[in-house]
Amino acid sequence: MNDHGSMVQTQRLAADTAGLAHAAAILQGGGLVAFPTETVYGLGADATNAEAVAGIYAAKERPSFNPLIAHLDSIGAAEAQGEFDETARRLARAFWPGPLTLVVPVAKTCTISDLARAGLDSVALRVPAHLLAHALLEKAGRPIAAPSANRSGRVSPTEADHVLGDLDGRIDAVLDGGPALVGVESTIVACLGGAPRLLRPGGVAREAIEALLGQALESGAEPGANPVAPGMLASHYAPRARVRLNASAIEPGEAALLFGPVRPSGIEAARAVVSLSENGDLTEAAARLFSSLRQLDATGAKTIAVSPVPETGLGEAINDRLRRAAAER
Ligand code: TXA
Ligand code: MG
Repeated sequence: MNDHGSMVQTQRLAADTAGLAHAAAILQGGGLVAFPTETVYGLGADATNAEAVAGIYAAKERPSFNPLIAHLDSIGAAEAQGEFDETARRLARAFWPGPLTLVVPVAKTCTISDLARAGLDSVALRVPAHLLAHALLEKAGRPIAAPSANRSGRVSPTEADHVLGDLDGRIDAVLDGGPALVGVESTIVACLGGAPRLLRPGGVAREAIEALLGQALESGAEPGANPVAPGMLASHYAPRARVRLNASAIEPGEAALLFGPVRPSGIEAARAVVSLSENGDLTEAAARLFSSLRQLDATGAKTIAVSPVPETGLGEAINDRLRRAAAER
């Protein structure tokens, strides 16, 4: 589905060579494919393609841009995306492929889009053990962003039928690999310098990780989970500049973030101007959101003035993110 609400025909693909080839081609073309992992079914998109990633949020009707897990076919591929310290390396060697996600600092060679990372300087990586997932990732030949393949607020799917119940008509295909075996999501551990932190309990037991490391894991709330108030999500990217929302006029020296064909008054005296989408396409705007904020912040402007963005479709998530960026801090 796109953000204008039009439906697509969702194909159920068999777990055979033809099905895999088709699924990989859809992913390479920027489409959405739900696929089984050993934990739950994931809703996959090319993690390096921000527009494709925006499609995930549109299909799930996520009210905000949570950072997503990028799935890879090997430890080597993961190490090109993130900086692994000694602890992260040991965890990867012991538990990958498997139901463990590692949050690590982004590597210089990282190709995962800003949108998939929700603008963070860290990235969540996982090498799944499911044979079909592995084969798909290998064929797709790129990191695949995949949250659980359910609509926002519903339970994670462990069968292709669950996926279709939630997302039929909203995604291009589901690769039917039978029931997922683990049924709960992956364990998430952050290795960001300092002691490793358990962000979400899941398919790999805390005890198994602690036994391997010979050290207790720090506990930490899952940063993406139920933010208590706008701006409370310390890990979320916040520009240095003040952010002024619903700006119908631009003050001299402000950086302007536009949406749609409108030309606000005072635009000539703006320090810099970037458009999220000239023709008002919310998927394109979502894809450009984080990189545009970064680009304008880098101009040194004290304030980023943002044109109104409609609250429909992906606009809700865009506005949620913009309100966080604008919250007093
Ligand atoms: O088992 C799983 O992990 C499944 C399958 C499909 O792989 N995926 C999954 O994704 O559960 P999702 O989007 O439902 O959960 C991803 C979690 C979110 O809670 C998010 O906050 C966290 O990962 N996350 C992602 N990147 C992060 C980061 N840079 N820092 C902290 N947390 C991050
Ligand atoms: Mg989920």
